[in-house]
Amino acid sequence: MCGIVGAAAQRNVTKILVEGLKRLEYRGYDSAGLAVICDQQLTLRKALGKVAGLEEKCIANPVKGVVGIAHTRWATHGKPSELNAHPHSSDHIAVVHNGIIENHAQLRQRLRNQGYEFVSETDTEVISHLLHSLYDQAGSLREALRLAIAEFDGAYALGVISTREPDTLVCARSGSPLVVGVGFEENFIASDPLALRQVTDRFIYLEEGDLAVVTAANIEIFEQSGKPVTRPVDRITETDEASDKGQYRHFMLKEIHEQTRVLRNTLQGRVSKTAVLDGCFGTDAQTIFDQVEAVQILACGTSYHAGMIARYWFEDWAGIPCAVEVASEYRYRKSVVRPNTLFVSISQSGETADTLAALRGSRESGYLASLTVCNVANSSLVRESDLSLMTLAGPEIGVASTKAFTSQLVALQLLVIALGKRAAMSRETEAELVAALHQLPGLCEQVLALDSQIVRISEAFTEKKNALFLGRGVDYPIAMEGALKLKEISYIHAEAYPAGELKHGPLALVDDDMPVVAVAPNNELLEKLKSNLEEVQARGGKLFVFADESAGFMNDGNTTVFNLPHAPLSIAPILYTLPLQLLAYHVAVLKGTDVDQPRNLAKSVTVE
Ligand code: G6P
Repeated sequence: MCGIVGAAAQRNVTKILVEGLKRLEYRGYDSAGLAVICDQQLTLRKALGKVAGLEEKCIANPVKGVVGIAHTRWATHGKPSELNAHPHSSDHIAVVHNGIIENHAQLRQRLRNQGYEFVSETDTEVISHLLHSLYDQAGSLREALRLAIAEFDGAYALGVISTREPDTLVCARSGSPLVVGVGFEENFIASDPLALRQVTDRFIYLEEGDLAVVTAANIEIFEQSGKPVTRPVDRITETDEASDKGQYRHFMLKEIHEQTRVLRNTLQGRVSKTAVLDGCFGTDAQTIFDQVEAVQILACGTSYHAGMIARYWFEDWAGIPCAVEVASEYRYRKSVVRPNTLFVSISQSGETADTLAALRGSRESGYLASLTVCNVANSSLVRESDLSLMTLAGPEIGVASTKAFTSQLVALQLLVIALGKRAAMSRETEAELVAALHQLPGLCEQVLALDSQIVRISEAFTEKKNALFLGRGVDYPIAMEGALKLKEISYIHAEAYPAGELKHGPLALVDDDMPVVAVAPNNELLEKLKSNLEEVQARGGKLFVFADESAGFMNDGNTTVFNLPHAPLSIAPILYTLPLQLLAYHVAVLKGTDVDQPRNLAKSVTVE
């Protein structure tokens, strides 16, 4: 999704801006641009496509300035083009913007009536002209921005510069994340701290409605009412390795292989040999957990799949009723909340607009409390939830989520056990589940070592237009996640079905040109699944079965079996995710698509 970087320094900031944009590339975008002020002049450069294109333009036709803003755009209003790329300027003012101004049409009409001409199709150009129209009367960029944001409906993170105040960068946020990076005699802004890790490790997380005035020497922050406030400066201690691919060709492959270590991290300090340690949810958790009688999970994308799996666990192991819904649907419907229901959001980024809106909307609905399972410590979801459980996967750069998903599943098991032992779960069951979790990293390592076998299987998919993924019970959402991975990065149309539904429609699609992937651990539904797969074989479909080594599947002309080591059933869904991630990865590599930044998709979806 769109990314913002800005800098106010005593040196040329162009390189800092371009490097910052490169670090945001993983979020997904279609064009990039920057604006700097030098000798009272505003200089803009824009390029369609990769940041490298913008960098080339800045080298071919050098730009210099000590104050500047930059942006990667993911089109919402108006197609990807140089004209629509940010920054958008209005005479002495330039603006970068993440989010959506919902009342842009009314504002545009008003500004047109005042004589402003619009060159782009974006909602952002409304902001630059509005600021320009307000500036003289306001007397400063800060005041103009304060007046302007009072007129916006929607979500925004904004960075603004003006040649009238050539040392100053002003910024504001509401609904989209923005941080101020604190340097030595230079300061920065960004939509994600990762963009600034090359220049600072100290960050101020702006709160909803905050406006900040940033110069090389100073940072002033004002809350929504206009009152000055002090926000804490956080030091990020994680190493910078996340932004480096190391020995791997793509971030996605690196992140798939990191899962053994990541899942150990997620468990570390949270489980003894036989139990989940209550302290891992924070001190307030005990009193809340004691009252929980039901759980409502909200999430989007891959995180939603994690929620679907957790539902089986909550109801099966803990006897706790659990509902799961995609946040974009839930937020716009009236729902009935049962007494003592815990609102659980799941999110890698902690900034997904729909999930955040669902949380905010839930406050008046009578939930007992809110808890988020999240990967980003200072994200909006973490800050706005009563409780949080961090997944500790480290920054995930590949747009297609991998290690974030499996670490969510482990974190969700901890939550299910913590709540379950206060409900129907026995000490023995807890001990069994925890023992299985301890085995998980080692088993992941064994499965990842089989990577070369998956390369061979993936060759069968490269020429295909469609694929079906089947699973039953808790493995149905795993099939959904496998299908999502394949379509996201290889652009092959892939759908998942509960295998029992096959004969109610999708079987009509099965012929010898249709690869059918099945997720087949040796669980109580194996025999049912086998019968469903026979229906596929009878229609000449090409089967690819990811099966427990003891499940009894045989290779033949139409069936390819990938055997996984025998694993406790409670962790099987997590383990079976890995070969499906690798399958999607290798198919995409063979097809030559952009694995880490698939077309049209964004890592962090901060607009609804
Ligand atoms: C985007 C990403 C997905 C992610 C989804 C939800 O679509 O490309 O990988 O699953 O957003 O994001 P979240 O950060 O809330 O998990």
